[in-house]
Amino acid sequence: MGEAAAKDVADLRNKIEELKIENERLAKFIEIGTAICEERDLDRLLPLVMANISKALKADRSTLFLIDWDRMTLWTKFAEGLNHGEIKIHLKMGLIGISVFTRQIVNVTNAYQDPRFNSTIDEATGYRTESVLSAPVFDLEKNVIGAVVLLNKKTGRFKKDDEEKALKMTPILAELVTAIDQDSNEIRSLLSNLRQSIQCERCSLFLLDKERGILFPLVAEGIEEHDIQLSLNLGIAGLVAITGEDLNIENAYDDPRFDERIDQKTGYRTRSILCVPIKDRSGEVIGVLEVINKKEGVFSRADKEILKALSSFVAVSVENAILFDEHNQQFRSILEVLAASIDAKDPLTAGHSLKVTKYAAGIARELGFAAPEIEVLTVAALLHDYGKLGTSDKVLKKQEKLTPEEYDHIKDHVVNTRNILNKMYLMRQYRDVPLIASSHHERLDGSGYADGREAHQIPFMAKIIAVADVFEALTSKRYYHEACSPETAFEILNEEAGTKLDENIIQSLKQYWYNNYL
Ligand SMILES: [Fe+2]
Repeated sequence: MGEAAAKDVADLRNKIEELKIENERLAKFIEIGTAICEERDLDRLLPLVMANISKALKADRSTLFLIDWDRMTLWTKFAEGLNHGEIKIHLKMGLIGISVFTRQIVNVTNAYQDPRFNSTIDEATGYRTESVLSAPVFDLEKNVIGAVVLLNKKTGRFKKDDEEKALKMTPILAELVTAIDQDSNEIRSLLSNLRQSIQCERCSLFLLDKERGILFPLVAEGIEEHDIQLSLNLGIAGLVAITGEDLNIENAYDDPRFDERIDQKTGYRTRSILCVPIKDRSGEVIGVLEVINKKEGVFSRADKEILKALSSFVAVSVENAILFDEHNQQFRSILEVLAASIDAKDPLTAGHSLKVTKYAAGIARELGFAAPEIEVLTVAALLHDYGKLGTSDKVLKKQEKLTPEEYDHIKDHVVNTRNILNKMYLMRQYRDVPLIASSHHERLDGSGYADGREAHQIPFMAKIIAVADVFEALTSKRYYHEACSPETAFEILNEEAGTKLDENIIQSLKQYWYNNYL
């Protein structure tokens, strides 16, 4: 055989070898994907995968450790044979620590004869470790995020090919772990991985808006900038959303169900489409996942399997995102109803809390506060007068001058606000809400109520609500005064700037007002 021919044969062998590896990778992906389809609960999926790894490597047990850099520990994300609690070990300790720090596989046949071995885990679990194979797990940026540890090879010791197998499996584990912890923003990166796996040009995820009868893009490569929504009664994606069945279209322009208008709008040419529905736990369609233009040939059965596996993944993330959104909306609407119910005690103050909230948020934006901080302020502003629930209507609506006792009774509303809000269960991020809300009548010089706190003792957010509150009261009609113009209100506020109210905050309100109301 000539030299050229020999080289050809060698090339061919290499190609076959590459294909074999690629096939194995795909098979693994599909196997896990299928498991995902059947196993919707991601936390239950990890044990399944770990059990498969143990089986494949003939190990008695497998454990996945993740790194907690803040505490310098490795903790068990999953440990076979450990049903409750978790194991934590110091990052630098033992064979696992070494494999994490050196980023290398550690393969030991007899752990107790290895001076680097740390027997703390054995002592805690009552298990006896003999052979150990510890492989580092990397994230996409090649940072070490943990280690997969296999214990006690059933045939005696872990060999070279076990090491290779372990290394091949760690990327899948990393993907699973990040998928478990992912939020909807990471769907995008999941989809770009998908595009590589399936070898297609574009990949889109549409969510179904049942009320409006449309599909709107969550991630839609190439069409996002065109603000495109898909009608349910048109096109392939619409059909998949309605029927809940997959569609694999080899040549779009030969298919009467294909809607060419998006191509016309975007100047793109669709050839092949593979589209699968995304279904929630109850089997209802909540969106569609679509890949467009297979780079070579048409979409295969394997592509469909991968897409379907991923659609389950996406379904869980989307469901979580929707749930989160709904919770937020519900929380907000309850707060608004509470605020409105207080304002409704008196027709003259109707809408007061909502307006104060709007002004306060406007001030905070002018001052450059970030969304989470504005969110806390908003909740506090909505509920700042909630304690008026306990104020007598007679005093609240009295048109004559209040007696000192009646004035004291009015002042009690902030203490009531604090007491009521302290009883309310609030998420950690809102823990300052009772204090902020109940400090809106405090003044910089200590002349306010209920505690008479001075400037440095008053939460900044409460100072914002104070300014918004005074401004709203001045510009609305009250029993004791007519509504004054914003200009007059600003003059009055200016008189108190620096002594009772914060000067900067008044300036920011002015800016907000003139930017939005003129
Ligand atoms: Fe108040």
